[in-house]
Amino acid sequence: MVSFNSRVNKISPYIPGKPEEELKRELGLDHIVKLASNESPMGVSPLVKEAILHEIERVPLYPDDTYLTLKKKLALRHGVTPQEIVLGNGSVELIKNIVSSSYEPGDRFLISRQSFMMYHQAVQEYAGEEAVRWVETKDYAFDMEEFIRIVREEKRIKAVFIANPNNPTGSFIPEETLLRFLENCPPETLVVMDEAYALFADAEGFASALKWRDRFPNLIVLETFSKAFGLAGLRVGYGIAHPEVASSIMKVRLPFHISRLSVAAALAALDDEEFLQKTLENNRRGKAFLLREIEATGFRVIPSQANFLLFLPPRDPIALVKAMERRGVIVRSLVAFGVPEGIRVTVGTEEQNNIFLKAFKEAVKEVYHG
Ligand SMILES: Cc1ncc(COP(=O)(O)O)c(C=O)c1O
Repeated sequence: MVSFNSRVNKISPYIPGKPEEELKRELGLDHIVKLASNESPMGVSPLVKEAILHEIERVPLYPDDTYLTLKKKLALRHGVTPQEIVLGNGSVELIKNIVSSSYEPGDRFLISRQSFMMYHQAVQEYAGEEAVRWVETKDYAFDMEEFIRIVREEKRIKAVFIANPNNPTGSFIPEETLLRFLENCPPETLVVMDEAYALFADAEGFASALKWRDRFPNLIVLETFSKAFGLAGLRVGYGIAHPEVASSIMKVRLPFHISRLSVAAALAALDDEEFLQKTLENNRRGKAFLLREIEATGFRVIPSQANFLLFLPPRDPIALVKAMERRGVIVRSLVAFGVPEGIRVTVGTEEQNNIFLKAFKEAVKEVYHG
């Protein structure tokens, strides 16, 4: 048998939310509501549809590998230069490329226990498990004092991964805490601020780290078209970083890594501000509704600045997830996210939220009061 490298052998593979098709087959159901992967429930912007149809004619040609049109548009949106934009086949590609382009033997990467698992997987892949420096969370929020202590006291922390708002907790880091962290971080440590959910955040005290990018050349902010823009199936993510950081990360990407259709869709999505606002408004309303209703069951729900809620049933969350699946509703068990006691539900449309709630109430009765 061919042997694979020891780093890869230790990787715990990414486990995505259960696909709708699989559950349909398993249960013989024809209607499923999937609220498990923080996708947008709002369908596709008509401008995006039109742009994709238009671009189809050019599919025989490779994409423009400079990706300058998209970079320029993003640069304009954020008030930066195109040289400060890095693109990825989803922001997950950027997470990998950051680790693979920066790691040297002896370096370590600081990752929170209850966060997006791709940070861990990327470090496992390129640097190995021994390069992971875990930091514990405190009551479902990042312990920024501990982050500060570690980056100040420990040597060779190459990069820190922080999701703000965080997945799967939905918690956010208040502006002044974030600034204090950036001020305390050594300039040779890369701070990766993953703001995949930032467009959903409206709490007082939330700020994108972008406002400090001039002060901290070691900062890279990641964004994605997969969540608020609703393009998860097309895989487009981007980052904003100092031009030198950006150019190093871009060296390890594959040529033509984002498809023509994806670029066309991303450009069009940026033009449809009305669709974006509708998506954000749906999320605000739906999240408040779900929060109220789940709390009414007596479960603790963690306040969320994202497009999902983390809630904590009294025991056996997997049984509850399974009982909901039997009713055609997919939510996410969080064992792989370091929160085995929790369940995450993505905010859906009003109709989906109501279907979720009915299944949830029935499942709660079955599992805890049956
Ligand atoms: C915090 C965080 N970052 C990045 C991503 C990945 O996004 P993309 O679809 O751009 O790869 C996700 C997806 O769930 C996420 O939760």
